[in-house]
Amino acid sequence: MLSEIKNICCIGAGYVGGPSMAVIADKCPEIKVTVVDLDEEKISNWNDSNLDKLPVYEPGLKEIIERRRGKNLYFSTDVNKEISSSDMIFLSVNTPTKTRGLGSGEASDLKYIESSARQVAKYATGETIVVEKSTIPVKTAETIEKILITSKKEKDPKSQHCIFHVLSNPEFLAEGTAISDLNNPNRVLIGGENKKAINFLYKIYSRWVPTEKIITTNIWSSELSKLTANAFLAQRVSSINSISALCEVTGANILEVSKAVGMDDRIGQYFLKPGPGFGGSCFKKDILNLIYISKFYGLYEVANYWKAVLQINKWQQDRISKIIVNKLFGNLSNKRVGILGFSFKANTNDTRESPAINICKDLLEEGANLAIFDPKVNEEKIFNELKNIMPNKNVDVEASKSAYESADGSDAIVILTDWEDFKIIDWHKVDKAMRSPAWIFDCRNILKKADLEKTNLNLWQLGNNL
Ligand code: NAD
Ligand code: UDX
Repeated sequence: MLSEIKNICCIGAGYVGGPSMAVIADKCPEIKVTVVDLDEEKISNWNDSNLDKLPVYEPGLKEIIERRRGKNLYFSTDVNKEISSSDMIFLSVNTPTKTRGLGSGEASDLKYIESSARQVAKYATGETIVVEKSTIPVKTAETIEKILITSKKEKDPKSQHCIFHVLSNPEFLAEGTAISDLNNPNRVLIGGENKKAINFLYKIYSRWVPTEKIITTNIWSSELSKLTANAFLAQRVSSINSISALCEVTGANILEVSKAVGMDDRIGQYFLKPGPGFGGSCFKKDILNLIYISKFYGLYEVANYWKAVLQINKWQQDRISKIIVNKLFGNLSNKRVGILGFSFKANTNDTRESPAINICKDLLEEGANLAIFDPKVNEEKIFNELKNIMPNKNVDVEASKSAYESADGSDAIVILTDWEDFKIIDWHKVDKAMRSPAWIFDCRNILKKADLEKTNLNLWQLGNNL
């Protein structure tokens, strides 16, 4: 019988598995933590002595890897071996939106969850706690439990010595602030039925998280809370973005409106920054999933409510592209446009669902040549994202090494990610490099009008009728 947690294995070495396990290893030096993945290149990069090669860029992550790797933190492709020697197994695999079959385009594709659960069933030994860390639809724990129990029986019908407990422990970290979110979470949520299993996980988190912030719920509440939290956050971004358009036509200033609204304690100041729409791997996928679940239960009005949040997000990107084309005399062919920022937000190298992808696609379709600069996203990733969204088209893009290189000879600069680096650009230098009449489209509201004083640059700013 399990009496303490000595070995943890995490299946999935991505944006959640890597940072979250690094922090557990850092806080619990006596526990051996191994992160496994089928992707050999990813694991090799996690193990690379050159820490700039880590597959995930997160402020503060490098330092933890340097401290713990090889001591009690390991990265491996030997999934089966690590499963068999672990007391607790986290499932941090990806749960993308289904692209075919029932629920295509909305429901979560649970194939990676299912295959990892089958592997756990096959190779686990003794009493094992299985923790869902991936974001999954309500009642997935039930599926995992069924797979574990039925596969166990297939393996050895008389087997009594392999017991599984399934817990839900959704991850609330945001990319770009993952390490500080993990070190100081708003809350840790543990859903489950088995008190002993809950207690083991509770004890791990209570090493650094104040106990009043660790809440335990039934498993379904835990799963639904995660989807709901993301939907509420995304809804705030869509709400403020809808008002940004109204500001542009009325003369109100979106930053002033956002500040005034956010100062109401009941509303709060966070997640009211206007921008080119939310990106990232979670919001769209989780809202789609909520829409699917609502429809499944016949709640069509609920589904439509959340659909509108996604529609506003796409609309915000479309309208930005149209504004750029209009300001450049309705024609982009043979024009060079500098794009500053390709990641979906600052401080991450993640480009999944980045608003930059749709906007770049629109500009390319208008005939523009793009010079894209992002401090942490490499050329290959940029090219692959664009090729993916326009498979049969010519992707005329160049990855620039600096903001100035992307400005060189350009007719416009479009700021799409709120990187700190873009706040200290020398706009006089940019002015000299660009072709007149030159436009700066600030889609993240990081510029002040004064920054462009004494330049010939024209400024368009989201939510601001200049
Ligand atoms: P990711 O794509 O970065 O990583 C998932 C990894 O799992 C991949 O490296 C993949 O190769 C691996 N994998 C898939 N099947 C496997 C298997 N059978 N065996 C071994 N490895 C396997 O995904 P992510 O961004 O880390 O997200 C993981 C989950 O966490 C998702 O459900 C997501 O919704 C949720 N989540 C993500 C974030 C975020 O900010 N990225 C935050 C909270 C929750
Ligand atoms: C989100 C949730 O915040 C996190 O709790 C969950 O675990 C995973 O999904 P993430 O997608 O990493 O995290 O980033 P987040 O900070 O939420 O930003 C999402 C998008 O919204 C980004 O594109 C960001 O630029 C945009 N955003 C955010 C705004 O446009 N305005 C804001 O005020 C806040």
